[in-house]
Amino acid sequence: MVIAIDGPAAAGKGTLARRLAEQFGLAHLDTGLLYRATAVRLLLDGGDPNSELTASAAARSLSTNDLRGPELLDEQVARLASVVAVHDGVRAALLDFQRSFAASPPNGARGAVLDGRDIGSVILPDADIKIFVTASSEVRAERRYQELRARGVHSIKSLVLKKIQERDERDRHREVAPMVPVEDAFLLDTTNMDADAAFEAAYEFVMLRQTSNGRNV
Ligand code: DC
Repeated sequence: MVIAIDGPAAAGKGTLARRLAEQFGLAHLDTGLLYRATAVRLLLDGGDPNSELTASAAARSLSTNDLRGPELLDEQVARLASVVAVHDGVRAALLDFQRSFAASPPNGARGAVLDGRDIGSVILPDADIKIFVTASSEVRAERRYQELRARGVHSIKSLVLKKIQERDERDRHREVAPMVPVEDAFLLDTTNMDADAAFEAAYEFVMLRQTSNGRNV
């Protein structure tokens, strides 16, 4: 089983992806980490994120070890990840890793859940299940603000909102693989839902879809 989850920052797709993976015994890949790791590599090397050549070389140089570490959670890194993600060369460099993960999930898992921005549209257009998770930008900013607070990071709520809106704008309107809900995706608006309610709704959709496809879950 392959599940593709897309949506904007702080919509709840990471939590949902982890819970679905656990429920169905699937491996999980947070594809945002690939773009974040590319950004970190550029920061360390002093490379220009606006240069497609430099950013693509950084993306090609990544290894799985680069996908761990607290620096990946940094808000500056998130912004830079969205900047490097506009380059076709960066996206191309990260494509095979994502498709291989879905085709041959690690640790003998019987499938995979990938979450990001272009999973259902570009990376895995044939995924069994596609879910597009969204929420109002105000609610997403509140969630991110609380997340930062819980990690002891001081931030200003209005600035968190502004940064989320800027990132949405860039991710939605870039030329290559923009973030769009595909036609066959289940649209899940979590504005008025907590993580449990979002999971319940997605779980029901997966069960329904699998049953109508005549598959055992
Ligand atoms: O999901 P995230 O916040 O960790 O993603 C960081 C940035 O990476 C996001 O703003 C855009 C980019 N990204 C992307 O372009 N495509 C993906 N599949 C995942 C992330």
